[in-house]
Amino acid sequence: MKKILITGGAGFIGSHVVRRFVTQYPETTIVNLDALTYAGNLNNLTDIEDAANYTFVKGDITDSTFVNQLFKEHHFDGVVHLAAESHVDRSITDPVSFVMTNVIGTVNLLNSFKELWKADFTNKRFYHVSTDEVYGTLGETGLFKETTSYDPNSPYSASKASSDHFVRAYGETYGLPYVISNCSNNYGPHHFPEKLIPLFINNIIHNKPLPVYGDGNYTRDWLYVIDHAIAIDLAFHKAENAATYNIGGFNEWKNIDLVKLLCKMMDEKLGRDAGTSEKLITYVTDRPGHDLRYAIDASKINQELGWKPTVTFEQGLEKTIDWYLNNDEWLEQVTSGAYQDYYKKQYE
Ligand code: NAD
Ligand code: TYD
Repeated sequence: MKKILITGGAGFIGSHVVRRFVTQYPETTIVNLDALTYAGNLNNLTDIEDAANYTFVKGDITDSTFVNQLFKEHHFDGVVHLAAESHVDRSITDPVSFVMTNVIGTVNLLNSFKELWKADFTNKRFYHVSTDEVYGTLGETGLFKETTSYDPNSPYSASKASSDHFVRAYGETYGLPYVISNCSNNYGPHHFPEKLIPLFINNIIHNKPLPVYGDGNYTRDWLYVIDHAIAIDLAFHKAENAATYNIGGFNEWKNIDLVKLLCKMMDEKLGRDAGTSEKLITYVTDRPGHDLRYAIDASKINQELGWKPTVTFEQGLEKTIDWYLNNDEWLEQVTSGAYQDYYKKQYE
């Protein structure tokens, strides 16, 4: 049986990737390694936790002794690396934890894989999940291509850029087989309510203000999380060694337009009068170093691997809203305790 390590599998995107691999590849053992930080939640995986080909290991990728031991024990054939600190606002208040997990953690994994595989790299793969934020910001026009220069602006994107460079460097220096993908903003079920869409869904449910940064004229390219998981599956299995792919939704929205659409859809779902939720919009102090616009040219993965999104934004958003409305226990569980302190510090 093949054995694949997925790191960060209890988080938002990681849980969708774990679910996809566990269900698509019953002949492959999937080991989910996650430290269960505030963003990690095993309740994201209750539907597959008893699968015969699934194992969970709690552990921290910044601990090189632990990581080495895990690799010696399991002899993985491949890794899909998603574990990271992932929220830009948190990186502004605590950059060092981003360096630790995103840079040091990634290098620890690379070292262990190099040691484990150095005798024979055949059929091995280190798949690194990264972000379009490494490219910095676009002006009003243009798209990020795989060849766009890295130009990160936030501590988060700087740490992800650094980790991408280390992966590539291990490929060049030691011959480690790798693939990197850089994806645009994801949304969907199990998204921790600190990022724009789940935060605003939660606030609309509870009639709380919707804190729009600056003038709201920032643009993001949104992709439904399951379409990202499908792209990772495809590229993990089919990409050439050392390939990089940009993954995006062909779906640009200015924040303020997205928020207004969300308000309209939520009013309909909650049976509120049209315009009720829009009244919650509150313009607040802008994020420092706020990138104006991200937009992905995903034509390479489309042409080479035949990937494209399977749902429209309206379909994906409706699925997402329905999921949050049907999973109030999940939402309550993740917004109790430490979340309240985070919210106060960030928004009050
Ligand atoms: P997330 O914050 O929801 O989940 C991160 C997971 O990593 C959590 O389960 C957490 O417990 C785990 N983790 C954190 N530190 C760890 C450590 N030191 N050791 C082991 N596990 C640790 O993040 P996400 O949004 O699911 O993002 C997953 C990956 O995808 C990240 O690498 C992120 O940079 C990348 N990405 C995210 C987006 C997006 O829109 N969310 C877009 C493109 C790329
Ligand atoms: P976010 O979901 O944090 O993703 P990223 O910063 O990685 O793109 O933010 C998406 C956009 O929404 C970004 O332009 C910042 C903005 N935003 C707000 O206006 N208010 C908020 O409370 C948050 C969290 C984000």
